[in-house]
Amino acid sequence: MDHQTEIIFTILGILFIHGLIFYLVSRKSRANIRGKHVIVTGGSSGIGLWAAIECVKLGANVTIVARNVKQLEKSKEQLLALKIREDQKIEYRSIDLCSSYGAVEKAFQEIEETVGSIYMLVNCAGMAICGTIEDTSIEDTKLMMDVNYFATLYPTRFVLPKMKATKEGIIVITASQAALVGLYGYGAYAASKFALRGLAETIAMETKHHGVSVTLALPADTDTPGFERENKTKPEETKIISGSGGLAKPEEVGRKIVHDALKGSFFSVLGLESWVLSTLCVGMSPWSGPVLCILQFYLLGPLRLIGLLIQWNFQRIIRNCAKEKERSTDK
Ligand SMILES: NC(=O)c1ccc[n+]([C@@H]2O[C@H](COP(=O)([O-])OP(=O)(O)OC[C@H]3O[C@@H](n4cnc5c(N)ncnc54)[C@H](OP(=O)(O)O)[C@@H]3O)[C@@H](O)[C@H]2O)c1
Repeated sequence: MDHQTEIIFTILGILFIHGLIFYLVSRKSRANIRGKHVIVTGGSSGIGLWAAIECVKLGANVTIVARNVKQLEKSKEQLLALKIREDQKIEYRSIDLCSSYGAVEKAFQEIEETVGSIYMLVNCAGMAICGTIEDTSIEDTKLMMDVNYFATLYPTRFVLPKMKATKEGIIVITASQAALVGLYGYGAYAASKFALRGLAETIAMETKHHGVSVTLALPADTDTPGFERENKTKPEETKIISGSGGLAKPEEVGRKIVHDALKGSFFSVLGLESWVLSTLCVGMSPWSGPVLCILQFYLLGPLRLIGLLIQWNFQRIIRNCAKEKERSTDK
């Protein structure tokens, strides 16, 4: 072996050992939900339904929670067809999750009596109504806080003490990319989703030493019945700004949320664009492993510059739309 080949082999050896150490350090063990009870709120439709489907495929006993009984029955049938264990339990419960804490507590106690204690809670119930702050009625603004924030807080508050006592459990809080950045036309919605980020970060700090993990899901636009309804209320500016990101498939988002939660990741995002935004907005969020921390360390500066350019582009779109509106009112 000549001197040059020796050097090449040495470099390759060093790279291999570094790669192996990096892999072993960053590898996370995955929780197993086979035979455990998972509750999915908003599990009758869209992202929640696909998260429930993934849990059923992994062998969990699953209860889906929403209001519309017909839709719940239909989704339960869909889940039953995917059972992988003979004794796997699939149930549903109809309840308005923002009615009151007492009502949610009673319903969840009854669910636990029939299906078993809750190991994983996937909060997916939510909704969006778009409009500028002054164009969104106070009723709709309050409704979004109720459905997005309180309908997540109530079930979470119910499971927390039990999970802390048993020193195990997984909580998923489904927010949105709008929990990271305020966007034109998403004011009231973003406020309710920013509140969820505060809730998730706090719970993560309060419960880590109790063995409970929290995952904050940050979906981008996803092709669901809820998204179809949201689109009907979107101002032109919001359509242009958010439309460039494409539309994710709910089955991919639901699956990713469940697997990120089982790995214990704090953020759950799908796709490069969402990952870049969550890295830029990482702030004081909890530790997510050495690989991510090293990437954040190197990328935050350059990403801030890209973020400013994106902001500048959004402002340009908003100015152009305003000019267009002025022109059409002048005619
Ligand atoms: N789709 C997107 O582009 C997108 C993007 C970012 C974040 N998200 C978030 O992801 C979550 C799921 O959204 P999605 O698009 O899948 O919505 P979806 O298809 O409309 O599903 C929403 C689910 O929540 C339930 N729900 C709504 N209000 C409820 C209440 N008061 N009590 C109990 N259940 C209630 C609905 O059932 P009932 O109406 O029968 O109650 C339904 O099962 C939401 O939190 C949403 O904000 C969605």
